[in-house]
Amino acid sequence: MKRRNFIKNASLTGVGIAVGSTLSSCGEIKSEEPKPTAAPEKASLPIVIATWDVKRAVATAGEALQNGEGILSALEKGCNIEEEDESNQTVGKGGRPDRDGNVTLDASIMDKHGNCGSVVYMQNITHAISVAKKVMEDTPHVMLAGKGAEQFAVESGMKRENLLTEKSKKEWEKWLEEKEYKPIINIENHDTIGMLAMDENGDISGACTTSGLAYKMAGRVGDSPIIGSGLFVDNEIGAAVATGMGEEVVKTVGSFLVVELMRQGKTPQEACEEAIMRIIDKPNSNYKNVQVAYIAINKKGETGYYSIHEGFSMTKFQNNENVNIKSDFYNKK
Ligand code: GLY
Repeated sequence: MKRRNFIKNASLTGVGIAVGSTLSSCGEIKSEEPKPTAAPEKASLPIVIATWDVKRAVATAGEALQNGEGILSALEKGCNIEEEDESNQTVGKGGRPDRDGNVTLDASIMDKHGNCGSVVYMQNITHAISVAKKVMEDTPHVMLAGKGAEQFAVESGMKRENLLTEKSKKEWEKWLEEKEYKPIINIENHDTIGMLAMDENGDISGACTTSGLAYKMAGRVGDSPIIGSGLFVDNEIGAAVATGMGEEVVKTVGSFLVVELMRQGKTPQEACEEAIMRIIDKPNSNYKNVQVAYIAINKKGETGYYSIHEGFSMTKFQNNENVNIKSDFYNKK
């Protein structure tokens, strides 16, 4: 175990520093007055955080919350910005297709009560997050897939569109010529937009939306619509969302893991780091060839973010400030 991890684990298991009591030389426990600690500062609310440099989306969600809109509506509005932005080739319209040229979308949403909705492998509908929200709110189900999700979206008033833009089509055709399947480390070509928010009441919800891995096999579904993998919210504890190579996130049930680590007392930063280490420390880990990153928020409004490789960033809206912050990462080489 790395020294840093040992120190973190030790403090959780009681091996570390005991507060409020000491062992005398003969083993008798003596009480000590707990040292006065500064009262934790109350976080300024609302807070919105998102994977990658998506300042317009995060500002939209943050301002919606400041204007008194519901948290789910704010998250939906924020994600919709990226879904309809054709220059973003990782979500919604303009997303890169699978190897057969089909753009297929995955998305999920989860609220403060633990309700959730998701869509997987959905085609021809730009706003996947809006369909996921409707699945949660208007159906007895959690997840709709493929044609069923598309049919439900159309019946709910959304229009069918061709999601394959000329730019994404040309790039796919070039990829076909090379006839080589190499999932790229998504450093420049980022993917999933994951967004977490805490409203004025301190309640937390989250959302994520993606067109998934570029040039994936037909039928492939990643982590984003799988509750617990791509996204997890527990309003008692906090929330986490993932971006990057979904297969690695699914294998470690990543977002649930981050929230459970926070439940055990880790800060969001420590929890994100430990969840990334689970991927790195696996026997035969493929971490050198894949990027994965997590962002997280806890009930105090503290946030964290960490990735395997350089290049990941988080956007944060708080106190009317909207900043993009580079993430620390594991692979310093
Ligand atoms: N994280 C998105 C995906 O792997 O599909």
